[in-house]
Amino acid sequence: MGKNTVTSIMKLKKENKKITMLTAYDYSTAKLLDNAGVNCLLVGDSLGMVMLGYENTLQVTLDDILHHTKAVSRGAKNALIIADMPFLTYHLDTYETIKNAGKLIQNGNAHAVKLEGGKEVVDKIEALVKAQIPVCGHLGLTPQSVNVFGGFKVQGKDIKGAKKIIEDAKLLEQKGVFAIVLEAVPYKLAKLISKEISIPTIGIGAGNGCDGQVLVTQDMLGMYSDFTPKFVKKYKNIAKDITDAVKTYIKEVKNGEFPRKEHTFSIKEEVINELKDIK
Ligand code: KIV
Repeated sequence: MGKNTVTSIMKLKKENKKITMLTAYDYSTAKLLDNAGVNCLLVGDSLGMVMLGYENTLQVTLDDILHHTKAVSRGAKNALIIADMPFLTYHLDTYETIKNAGKLIQNGNAHAVKLEGGKEVVDKIEALVKAQIPVCGHLGLTPQSVNVFGGFKVQGKDIKGAKKIIEDAKLLEQKGVFAIVLEAVPYKLAKLISKEISIPTIGIGAGNGCDGQVLVTQDMLGMYSDFTPKFVKKYKNIAKDITDAVKTYIKEVKNGEFPRKEHTFSIKEEVINELKDIK
């Protein structure tokens, strides 16, 4: 499989081929996911919850995302790397927005940035696109607005909410974003939007009418148990595998079964004998 780019991702929609995206926050996981052939790796601000143990994504900083983006970009060869812009890093003014996104591209080696919101942030999106920074949008349940929504709630269920998401999706397409993440919206609405716009929609809790899917890797591997949204499918129970492995390690260290000879280094007998004579 060749290198994924924003243009190759957009082409997948034209060819009616589904797009795959997973989150990644570190070198080793990025390498595994990349080798498995995932199209895009998202250094999501979900790292605040699944890696740093925060209650939501609001405390994540640009430096956090930059640090993890550098690690992911070292691990991935073919995936398109998208770095999330954290809360308040694209809300103040366009100068700050471009500077912050620029750091993720220039220092973090991300290929694109993702930011949440529609009409409210469209001036920032326009400025980023003009600065030659590819932008992925994010509509529906935008976790950085958790305090405005009053929790992690499904969006676009009534006519007003649904219309806003459709209008925002069209606006973002018009302003040049290359894809839009649709999070926790009714699947029929997501399908309608996916038909209405020419750029790919990447769904999370938005059904299979989207052009692609994204999941938080720790959720789909069964590693994060604090909170599992309805839309997550657990493909593995890694938490159990890790717990079992660690229990076996503890047992083997305690009873002297580990390490064995094959895990150790040898020394010549004459050297050890001479050492014995040193008082
Ligand atoms: O931060 C993140 O991981 C995300 C995905 C849930 C789309 O934004």
